[in-house]
Amino acid sequence: MPTMFVKLGLPLHDLFRPFLFLFMSCACRSWAALEDAGFTYNGFRGANISLDGIAQITPNGLLMLTNQSLRQLGHAFYTYPLHFKNNLSDDGNVFTFSTTFVFGILPKLQNLGGHGIAFVITPSGGLPGAQPSQYLGLTVSNNGNPYNRFIAVELDTILNNEFSDIDSNHVGIDINNLTSLCSVPVSYVTNGGNRKNLSLISGKPTQVWVEYNGLEKRMDITLAPIDVPKPNIPLLSCSLNLSPIMQDPMYVGFSSSTGSFVTNHYVLGWSFKMNGPAKDLTISQLPKLPRLGPREHSKFLTVGLPIIGLILASALISVVLSIVRRKIKFAEVVEDWELEYGPHRFKYRDLYIATKGFKEKELLGIGGFGRVYRGVLPTSKIQVAVKRVSHESRQGLREFIAEIVSMGRLRHRNLVQLLGYCRRQRELLLVYDYMPHGSLDKFLFDQPKVTLNWSQRFGVIKGVASGLLYLHEGWEQVVIHRDVKSSNVLLDSEFNGRLGDFGLARLYDRGADPKTTHVVGTFGYIPPEITRTRKASPSTDVFSFGAFMLEVACGRRPIDPQTSSTDKIILVDWVFSCWSRGKILETVDPNLGSDYVTEEMDLVLKLGLLCSHSIPTARPTMRQVVRLLVGDAPLPESSLRGLGATGQAFAHGKGLNKFATSHPSSSLGKTTTTQLSLVADSLLSTGR
Ligand SMILES: *[C@@H]1O[C@H](CO)[C@@H](O)[C@H](O)[C@H]1NC(C)=O
Ligand SMILES: *[C@@H]1O[C@H](CO)[C@@H](O)[C@H](O)[C@H]1NC(C)=O
Ligand SMILES: *[C@@H]1O[C@H](CO)[C@@H](O)[C@H](O)[C@H]1NC(C)=O
Ligand SMILES: *[C@@H]1O[C@H](CO)[C@@H](O)[C@H](O)[C@H]1NC(C)=O
Ligand SMILES: *[C@@H]1O[C@H](CO)[C@@H](O)[C@H](O)[C@H]1NC(C)=O
Repeated sequence: MPTMFVKLGLPLHDLFRPFLFLFMSCACRSWAALEDAGFTYNGFRGANISLDGIAQITPNGLLMLTNQSLRQLGHAFYTYPLHFKNNLSDDGNVFTFSTTFVFGILPKLQNLGGHGIAFVITPSGGLPGAQPSQYLGLTVSNNGNPYNRFIAVELDTILNNEFSDIDSNHVGIDINNLTSLCSVPVSYVTNGGNRKNLSLISGKPTQVWVEYNGLEKRMDITLAPIDVPKPNIPLLSCSLNLSPIMQDPMYVGFSSSTGSFVTNHYVLGWSFKMNGPAKDLTISQLPKLPRLGPREHSKFLTVGLPIIGLILASALISVVLSIVRRKIKFAEVVEDWELEYGPHRFKYRDLYIATKGFKEKELLGIGGFGRVYRGVLPTSKIQVAVKRVSHESRQGLREFIAEIVSMGRLRHRNLVQLLGYCRRQRELLLVYDYMPHGSLDKFLFDQPKVTLNWSQRFGVIKGVASGLLYLHEGWEQVVIHRDVKSSNVLLDSEFNGRLGDFGLARLYDRGADPKTTHVVGTFGYIPPEITRTRKASPSTDVFSFGAFMLEVACGRRPIDPQTSSTDKIILVDWVFSCWSRGKILETVDPNLGSDYVTEEMDLVLKLGLLCSHSIPTARPTMRQVVRLLVGDAPLPESSLRGLGATGQAFAHGKGLNKFATSHPSSSLGKTTTTQLSLVADSLLSTGR
């Protein structure tokens, strides 16, 4: 009992303690009820709440007044009755009281909810016989029924003309019927002074404060989203004397009903206090509303998910496609037997990147075997030339690649270095050192602004001769180039001549039978025996080299039908005829003028004639050619004189036989041929 005095909290207690004690002893029941009149529920698990209708408390502590059933009602009341007035005093004044709660209305369809929630005070612990739908579970039979007994604060989400509703989103105070005494559209004023609209069916938790001032006889109602502090200005302030209406005792609780649309009405937390301000709810402890309102949920499911899925799927497809496309684009053929050539193999991808996708701009030229592109290797940044050779069948390819790779091991300063290869479905790619000045023929025939001077030309001839000698003798196998010509001689940065394309010639094993099957080479550079025997030998290269020397010295192609004078069509015959008249220097390239060393020019022209001999055995070897060129041995002038009667000696394949037979000196026939061999023999013996 003594604790009672303290809890009353009146300053006069100490003075009037004896009287109060007397007073309280006769009215203890009423005072005890007063004393207890307050509760705070942050979530309703284990709360003293009585349920009715379809209301229930969810496992996470939400008070769910209505579920998805249509035209149903739900009631939830604090289990114990409360005394709102002191029935011992005659004035019947209703106490000041205050309550606050957080609710959430989650309609399934956007903007279509029903019907709302009401905070209600009734004389009985429930509303027996109440109706759902627009009646909010508050009224019995009809709106004017005199048996209706309630004080309600409605949060109405439907505009109902029957009850003179102002709109479909309002707060109202109802006494015994649903025609509101006071009502106002829902909004709140921030403490910064801005008024903001608030939707009751937003699905977001919203807090409500209901405060009745028993002295001023006024009810204030305030709303705000839960993340906003309580606004200082109430939304609705209604003068109202509850004394005639309030009975003793009364029950407090909530009522809600569904109509034709699926709506869930929830209360998250509730605090009530008689004769004082309701304790604040602890927002962080409130149970969570179901994730997203049904409408947002369905929007996410029906629109968001398919779109996200579509985006993901198309992204996935495009990634897969680009990988597949890349795979196809950079596909190459590698077989087991190629593995031993590993270091010589290039990745197609690298070559593709190096040549910028084999762009026309990177095209260096189109040769007999394929197109040649300039490129820069991605990692090493080395400049290369990539030759694309198309091949249709796999036959002989293995052997060919073996040759190519072994060629790659040939190293000579006058050979274009083969760096490696790459193989694709119908294509072989050969990678060579890049030669900045391109092929020699352009400098000889293309009427260039810069032509090569004699010392450069002589240097190129000597270089190519030494490269060819290396192929013939410098290695364990005899390599026959089979296509020596000015367009296959490339110039490096210092204008050194380098023989290219030897990778595409066949190997000729020393001592073994030549295994060639078809004619390789260029008309005008192939010796006559090739058309008969089709067998290449080092001496066929010597023949081609002779033609090459003449074209470098004379600046003319071996066969030039474009020339003005008929006896200049076949270069070797023309040089020969000039020589026989003792005027061999008349054949010198006019571009050189007189700017050359006569002895060297003379040597080159005569050696060119000698190499062009129609009998293979009469031609010098490359070793002899090199020795003569570098001046290790002099060209015996006397022994060359015998060439004078050898018109037949320079027969160049089928097409030229006709020309050769019509030549006046052809009648000399057999004897001259023998004579020439003798001359050649004596000449070459000096070169050995
Ligand atoms: C419910 O009421 C009983 C009796 O008044 C009380 O002991 C209990 O603490 C109350 N429970 C809650 C959660 O307020
Ligand atoms: C709503 O609750 C009532 C009573 O708990 C139940 O009979 C009904 O099946 C529920 N409706 C739905 C749609 O869950
Ligand atoms: C006063 O309240 C008590 C219970 O709280 C009740 O039994 C009694 O009838 C009430 N008296 C009047 C005059 O209302
Ligand atoms: C509804 O209640 C108000 C008082 O709150 C009263 O003036 C009005 O006549 C009542 N209407 C009906 C239909 O009973
Ligand atoms: C707020 O609601 C009122 C009526 O309910 C309306 O006239 C006003 O335009 C709304 N304001 C905003 C910002 O939505």
